[in-house]
Amino acid sequence: MGDPHPKLQAHAVTRTFGRAPQAVHALGPIDLTIAPGEFTCVVGPSGCGKSTLLRIAAGLLRPSRGELTIRTASQRPAAMIFQDYGIYDWKTVQANVRFGLDIQKVPRREANTRATDWLTRMGLADFADAYPAALSGGMRQRVAIARALAVEPEILLMDEPFAALDAQLRTILQDELLALTQTTRTTTLFITHSLEEAIVLGDRVLVMSARPGRIIAERRPPFPRPRSGEIRTTPEFTALKSELWDLLRGEVGTEAAA
Ligand SMILES: Nc1ncnc2c1ncn2[C@@H]1O[C@H](COP(=O)(O)OP(=O)(O)OP(=O)(O)O)[C@@H](O)[C@H]1O
Ligand SMILES: [Mg+2]
Repeated sequence: MGDPHPKLQAHAVTRTFGRAPQAVHALGPIDLTIAPGEFTCVVGPSGCGKSTLLRIAAGLLRPSRGELTIRTASQRPAAMIFQDYGIYDWKTVQANVRFGLDIQKVPRREANTRATDWLTRMGLADFADAYPAALSGGMRQRVAIARALAVEPEILLMDEPFAALDAQLRTILQDELLALTQTTRTTTLFITHSLEEAIVLGDRVLVMSARPGRIIAERRPPFPRPRSGEIRTTPEFTALKSELWDLLRGEVGTEAAA
């Protein structure tokens, strides 16, 4: 049997920004338990609090009420990929990817080898010595992905990591992440606007309501692991996508009317 303790547990987590009477109730209450090795996708309308939830999970933001705990067995940190990249413009691409390894005090030679390996997998080997200013948006996003994966985190927190990529590259990286997380069994909390992405990658897909975001539904894509991107063409895939879209459409409508 695997580790029975959840990796992430949220109890009645809410978050409000600002003070009354202008306070914005952005999130919750959220209750969520994520088991070791589970890949959990979150979809929901824009502004419903998805990034807020991820920032709370990453310890970058406190809940207004409730509690969220992350449990890791080792010193390895949770790694977060921001929606807006969060890479350092004054560091080279190689140094950006090595950043988390440097913090972990991984010896320089090994750190460079691992960074080069991830840059190669992301198709960026030729840009190791470039600065981020010389990269396109999609390339910057791939640097951020390489940086997070290079530390081989126990928990991976990803906020729309593929949103800025073209459809082809997005599909390639989805398949790459699928293969990777099936091998490493990395516990992952993954935010996306894309239902296809959520179904391909997720053990679970959580649907959030319009703001203040709550979890209004959960579906488990019926595809055994190891799975591959070929599930995209199955009738089960299409059926689940349309079911999720129906759930989401109600919430997008709510938000527009509010
Ligand atoms: N630091 C902040 N200060 C004030 N309000 C904030 C702050 N961060 C988020 N909000 C508000 O909280 C709500 C939720 O924002 P959040 O970024 O979590 O949404 P989201 O679901 O990630 O949206 P998107 O899909 O567009 O990325 C929004 O109304 C936003 O304006
Ligand atoms: Mg967001």
